[in-house]
Parts: sequence; structure tokens; C-alpha cells
Amino acid sequence: GKGKEKEKEKEESSAIHPAIAPLSYLLGKWKGEGEGGYPTINSFRYGEELHFSHPASGKPVIAYSHKTWKLDSGMPMHSESGYWRPKPDASIEVVIAQSTGLAEVLKGTYSAEDKVIKLQSEVVANASKVREISRVYEMVNGELRYVVQMATNLTDLQPHLKAVLKKL
Ligand code: HEM
Repeated sequence: GKGKEKEKEKEESSAIHPAIAPLSYLLGKWKGEGEGGYPTINSFRYGEELHFSHPASGKPVIAYSHKTWKLDSGMPMHSESGYWRPKPDASIEVVIAQSTGLAEVLKGTYSAEDKVIKLQSEVVANASKVREISRVYEMVNGELRYVVQMATNLTDLQPHLKAVLKKL
């Protein structure tokens, strides 16, 4: 009957779309710590929670968000959210909105086998200093590690953030 059909539709829409299956290891919540720095600032440490989810639409998209906080006081720091769009040809595009007002469009590649994702900014918008951003996310011994590099109007591409997260 109609009820059964509806139920089936629901099941199918919450199933993992084949296009995101190679990155399904990301899905879930991650928590860890990171280290920030740059030639022009004092280095700092931070706590972080990261969330990858498959939107209920069943579309070939992974929803992404992260929040960070000061390790001593728990005070919120930077946060961001966006969408990751892997393609069957192992390319990927990512759009991210940051709490600072900066917007990023990144393009890159992923390796399902090595569990490495490499992203390079194509657009950095509404930024006063940032010209370029690169991000590498990698699974190492079941932990998610990333490095975010940036170039500013004064400095070439150099690391700003490094973090290691465990799945919750
Ligand atoms: C400083 C960009 C993520 C914390 C900065 C600066 C820029 C920047 C342009 C100033 C550098 C300078 O003055 O020469 C970005 C971008 C990010 C990002 C593009 C993401 C792609 C984060 C995150 C955190 C963070 C996740 C915290 C966990 C800081 C801190 C400073 C800083 C504490 C130093 C502020 C100061 O001393 O004035 N960032 N940031 N940033 N960022 Fe980020």
C-alpha cells in the first residue's frame, strides 16, 4: 500500500548516496585538539569538535561544521560550516562559511584508498588579509588529522592550523 511505499522512499533517501560512499569514513562527530600559528601571530592551542553528516535529502553532499574553543576557559573561538561535494572521478569541491565572515570555495581531490583529501581555494571572499587557503585532511591510525595553510597579503602559503581528532 501507500504507507509501505512512503516508508521505502524514506529509507532510500536516508541511505548513503553512492557518490559520498568513498568518504563515508568521515561521517559522524570528531573531537580533538589543535595548534595554531603563523609568522605574524603568537601560537595557540584549541579544542575542536567537527561534524560530518549526510543530509536527509539523500543528495550527494556531506554537511560539515566545526566549532573551536579555548582549552583553558572553554570560551568559543572560530567556527565554520559548509558542504563537501565529492564526485565519482575522485575530485571534490567544498564550500565553507566562517564565523569571521570569510567565505571559501575549495577544489581538490580525494583518495578513498589512502583516505586523504587535498583542497585548494579557488575563491576566498570577504577577507581583509587572506589571499589563499589550502586544507589537507588525512586518516592516520583511525585519527583524523588536518593541516590548514593560508597566504595573506604579507605572507606566502604557510600553516595556520594543525589538529588531531578522534571519532566520538
Ligand atoms: C589569526 C585567518 C581559522 C584562531 C588569523 C589571521 C588570519 C586568520 C588572516 C591574522 C593573521 C595576521 O594578523 O597576520 C584564518 C583562516 C582560518 C582561520 C582563513 C580558516 C581557514 C582559525 C581557527 C582558529 C583561529 C579555527 C581557532 C581555533 C586565530 C587566532 C589568531 C588568528 C587566535 C591570532 C589573533 C591575534 O593574535 O590577533 N587567522 N583563521 N583561526 N586566528 Fe585564524
